Amino acid sequence: MEKEIRFDYPEESGFILPHELEYFEPEILRVHNLIHARKGPGHEYAGWVDWPLDFNRAEFDRIKRTGEKIKEIADVFIVIGIGGSYLGARSALELLQHSFYNQLPTNKRGGPEVYFAGFNISPAYLEHLLELVGEKNLAVNIISKSGTTLEPALSFRVFRRLLEKRYGKKGARDRIIATTDQAKGALKELADEEGYETFSVPDDIGGRYSVLTAVGLLPIAVGGINIDEIMQGAAEGHQLMSRVTLAENPAYRYAAARNILYRKGKVIELLATYDPAFLYFSEWWKQLFGESEGKDGKGIFPASTNFTRDLHSLGQLIQEGYRNLFSTTLWVENPTVDTEIDKLEKNIDGLNYLAGKTFHFVNEKACRGTMAAHNSGGVPTLKITVPGQTPFYYGQMVYFFEKACAVSAYLLGVNPFNQPGVEAYKKKMFTLLGKPSANLLPKNVK
Ligand code: PA5
Repeated sequence: MEKEIRFDYPEESGFILPHELEYFEPEILRVHNLIHARKGPGHEYAGWVDWPLDFNRAEFDRIKRTGEKIKEIADVFIVIGIGGSYLGARSALELLQHSFYNQLPTNKRGGPEVYFAGFNISPAYLEHLLELVGEKNLAVNIISKSGTTLEPALSFRVFRRLLEKRYGKKGARDRIIATTDQAKGALKELADEEGYETFSVPDDIGGRYSVLTAVGLLPIAVGGINIDEIMQGAAEGHQLMSRVTLAENPAYRYAAARNILYRKGKVIELLATYDPAFLYFSEWWKQLFGESEGKDGKGIFPASTNFTRDLHSLGQLIQEGYRNLFSTTLWVENPTVDTEIDKLEKNIDGLNYLAGKTFHFVNEKACRGTMAAHNSGGVPTLKITVPGQTPFYYGQMVYFFEKACAVSAYLLGVNPFNQPGVEAYKKKMFTLLGKPSANLLPKNVK
């Protein structure tokens, strides 16, 4: 077995007392049983729990084959989706690809440039993307479980028209892949009608838990990431995070610790990462926890900081502002690349004392120093250590956070798998847009 994800916090700081964790043990056992027996609120969406073991192998192989085909026919791959239908794939690609992947020469990329659309309603974003695509060969993956979400549906209209104009209806058919509900919905109906290749979003897996399904895996595979390794990491994550006790299970300790802090008025959690490659992983994490926990007047507000960048913007507030925060550092132990610091003949910047050390060495000291400073400033600091920034550990991290999130939400007393509040803005927006009433719309459109 590879090294495991770890969770810890400075016990001597006294923000979490040893007996407080112990008091959570029976609750953890109860919640563990609820999740594994699929009996808790929202259990009909617990398909993610055993997914790393029982995912559909035939569809997985088809994802890999389609990924290879797209690599052959496309110079640009546009992934259209929003929320849970987009953040997972983007988090994986930004974490695991070269930092400047799309700008690399084709032979270094080994696949098409990958861009995302349909997660906003910005005309400038869309027009600039179209400009960037220009005459390049194009393929599109439209991802929408419902098939009727406004933002991706609007963008898809534009790219579908472009594909049909450029390649004809038949040619466009070979370049559009729809990831949607396996049986129903507007997109499924359109895909069947037009003959698009389709991949399914399982009925029992909600958007924010769907990155390990075709929703995330097809774009990730097209982006050149080894999805076998992701699923192996997730399977190991499943094994590790199925352990019952707090002592053995880092995801359960994390869930208990954040609930202890929440009950002490720490209502905002800052996910602190130390590499820009984690920016979209943080966005994925925010949706996972925000949509799962923020309901019934409760919920820890999930915020994110990317250090050391944000120490030069938010650092002051974190250190000395209102004491309603705790932070969770997500630290990678072994970076994939590292750079040694040179010795200068003239030590103008005074940094020669670091000569021979590496950037990772300095980053690690920045991480430890920041945690110590925040801790002494009254910000409890939790830490999750990931052994490597690899597809395997990406899979393990995803499973770690999914499990921790479900457990944490049940400890909080909310249904982790619904999102009734998301409808509120849609209702107001559709009224303003003058959307016709449901009975005047085509079937399947809500
Ligand atoms: O987690 C969720 O359920 C949401 O974020 C959805 O994924 C998002 O609203 C997109 O929905 P759909 O896939 O139906 O277009």
